[in-house]
Amino acid sequence: SNLNQDDLKKLAAYKAVEYVKSGMVVGLGTGSTAKHAVARISELLRQGKLRDIIGIPTSTTTHEQAVSLGIPLSDLDSHPVVDLSIDGADEVDPALNLVKGRGGSLLREKMVEGASKKFVVIVDESKLVKHLGGSGLAVPVEVVPFCCDFTRGKLEELFREAGCKAKLRVKSGGETAAVTDNGNFVVDLYLERDMGDLEAASEAILRLPGVVEHGMFLGIATTLIVAGKSGVTVKDR
Ligand code: A5P
Repeated sequence: SNLNQDDLKKLAAYKAVEYVKSGMVVGLGTGSTAKHAVARISELLRQGKLRDIIGIPTSTTTHEQAVSLGIPLSDLDSHPVVDLSIDGADEVDPALNLVKGRGGSLLREKMVEGASKKFVVIVDESKLVKHLGGSGLAVPVEVVPFCCDFTRGKLEELFREAGCKAKLRVKSGGETAAVTDNGNFVVDLYLERDMGDLEAASEAILRLPGVVEHGMFLGIATTLIVAGKSGVTVKDR
């Protein structure tokens, strides 16, 4: 077949939306894959095939998309338990641990997806890795703006053994720091070797004052949907 990468993202997204049932509170992910799921949910609402959905957006971008498509929205304050979330990922390992946040929305995503009974991850096959942080892409960390270079240095030190380079994320083309939906900055960790025990790495990052959250999602995803040239596969944890 001659499906391109965006077609594969759409295939995975449409498959995930089959899990959405009328009356559910649904976490709406962020990114080029999740946006197909949001569009599909709105289409099924318009066709009357889904009713009484409440969406919980994971970013201002997704909030705007969902509003423009007429999906009723709420938040975790009003709906602290989410039935199902659907979102993309930057990397997925065989245990369904994820790296997320290349788009900068990792904090809200982790709050919403961590509060979800089911979290369906949707990716094209290019996102599958053996070890998180091993694909040459960064592991993003959201940090407070205050003395962010101090925090950046502490993060780099933490993973020195893994050949870590920690870089403050800047706006595309610019020299000013990229700002998250929460008014924070992002430090991207580039690793030459895998960081070993993921739980230990996670705890070490979160223990640093100045760190708000990181983009490793450990034990949060319940289902993985992968679209590849040879079809769509579903895997449960
Ligand atoms: C947003 O911050 C990210 O966590 C995205 O969910 C992730 O980067 C996947 O995005 P794509 O589907 O666009 O690759």
